[in-house]
Amino acid sequence: MLGSLPRTLHALGLSLTLLAACQSSPTTSPRPEKAKSVAFRPGSDATAVVAPAFEPGDAARGKSLVGEFECHRCHSGTGQPPARLDQDCVGCHEQIATDKFRAAPSKLAKWKPHIQPYRDVPSLGELGKRLRPAWVRDYLLHPHDLRPNLAQNMPRLAISTDQATDIATYLTAVEGPAPSVPVSAAPAHVARGKELLTERGCVGCHRVSGAGLSEPPRTEPAPRTLGLAPDLRFARERSEPAAISRWLTDPTQVKHDTAMPNLHLAADDVRDLTAFLSFGELAPPPRAEPALRLPVLERRVGFDEVNERVFAVTCRHCHTNPDSAGGDGGPGNTGGFGFKPRKIDFSSYQGIQSGGVDARGERVSLFAPTKEGVPLLVAALLARGRETLGRESEEVRGMPLGLPPLSAEQIQLVESWVAQGRPL
Ligand code: HEC
Ligand code: HEC
Ligand code: HEC
Ligand code: HEC
Repeated sequence: MLGSLPRTLHALGLSLTLLAACQSSPTTSPRPEKAKSVAFRPGSDATAVVAPAFEPGDAARGKSLVGEFECHRCHSGTGQPPARLDQDCVGCHEQIATDKFRAAPSKLAKWKPHIQPYRDVPSLGELGKRLRPAWVRDYLLHPHDLRPNLAQNMPRLAISTDQATDIATYLTAVEGPAPSVPVSAAPAHVARGKELLTERGCVGCHRVSGAGLSEPPRTEPAPRTLGLAPDLRFARERSEPAAISRWLTDPTQVKHDTAMPNLHLAADDVRDLTAFLSFGELAPPPRAEPALRLPVLERRVGFDEVNERVFAVTCRHCHTNPDSAGGDGGPGNTGGFGFKPRKIDFSSYQGIQSGGVDARGERVSLFAPTKEGVPLLVAALLARGRETLGRESEEVRGMPLGLPPLSAEQIQLVESWVAQGRPL
């Protein structure tokens, strides 16, 4: 992984002790009930989300699958011991960002601008207190962007429906307490809830896409909490109204180490905000089109240029030569996150030329055409753009895995280099 990083770690005799998770003791003040509230009846309102059915799976198997898929390399709260530092995608970046990583200051300074990806990932602890099990299952199968200020996404894993069901069953096993504020779908409460999103400052941290609210201008640099704040458009799919209500009453009730502050909202505000977030009208998401595919360049494109702008920046980190990286060539080479070893190496010209293997271990060229007639390497880059729009390819996994698609210009560069016969 990452060229010689693990070796560097060992050479420095780095201590692998990770920071203990922060603590906070949840306290809840019961809120008075309001007589005028309308009790929530599932499906009683046309705008309510009808939760997809969830047939619980095998929680014990879910627990062992969480280990096999190495969710703990990115997430805390999985019930697994913390990942070793040289495997810990989030922990290592966090140590670099906060100068805790043992390396020369000049190295840290050089790395820092590049390690924002994977510094913030939501914890999976107490998931049952906030998320619907069916949503967790479906998200594992078809992950999509939830947090507008977080570049990285949940990667699309090679996971079956049964596996996703078992994992969702395990992760959501502990449910939250009953909400202290009754849930309402009354139109007056829904309307007031929409106003409160601006009045109570929610839009300072959250996007609520489709609600037609204007976002306040952002100050630079943006506070780190913004990264973890989800687009609240998804709240109704992700959570039961009762869970949203609990969250607004006191976020630590639902997630003890949450990055959302307790806003000490009055019971009426909790009721009305929950009403809008669960039942309010939202415009459908805009029809997004994949980025334009630019024509192949006429000018000569050599390896050094593509390497500097694409392979060495984004790809090599997960696809490197295991011999020069202490045995671990990253998830796209020696395997990881449940993926079989694919032996794809972007650390050198020779590595790229020699290709990789498919899931059955048979040799494949990165330049072999897919069914669409596009070289595999280019097809994977295009597939990532479509994946982010919800159009997943059965044949090719989008790359870079779990990261924003490359720009049209970067893809054009790769495609031109391939079309020109991959000059050195
Ligand atoms: C390479 C890093 C990585 C790995 C491995 C990974 N995830 Fe994630 N996951 C993320 C990121 C980043 C997000 C946040 C995405 C967003 O908000 O758009 C996320 C989000 C989630 C969420 C939504 C949580 C929330 O509060 O919104 C769930 C559930 C989840 N992951 C479960 C899993 C499980 C289960 C596994 C293992 C099977 C796993 N993840 C493996 C990076 C990872
Ligand atoms: C041992 C520490 C360490 C571990 C473990 C680690 N990284 Fe990194 N990561 C780095 C460093 C250092 C950089 C900056 C590299 C540079 O500046 O050349 C980086 C950069 C990145 C980048 C940014 C590339 C860019 O676009 O600039 C991504 C994406 C990334 N890492 C993802 C991951 C993922 C996914 C994992 C887990 C599979 C992981 N990292 C594990 C140290 C680590
Ligand atoms: C200072 C920034 C900030 C403000 C202000 C804020 N939130 Fe949050 N909110 C967050 C963050 C960060 C999270 C994610 C926390 C986590 O996962 O630990 C979150 C999570 C949530 C969630 C859970 C959403 C989900 O899909 O998981 C809801 C609901 C929510 N906020 C509603 C609100 C409402 C309503 C307001 C205004 C009354 C508000 N928030 C104000 C930062 C903020
Ligand atoms: C976060 C880690 C990660 C990053 C970053 C990453 N890859 Fe991958 N890549 C993987 C994994 C894991 C696989 C294996 C996927 C599978 O077997 O379905 C893979 C597979 C591939 C494949 C084969 C795809 C297929 O469906 O057969 C190609 C081509 C590829 N990567 C290219 C790239 C390129 C080009 C980049 C940089 C733009 C990149 N990867 C960045 C992890 C990564």
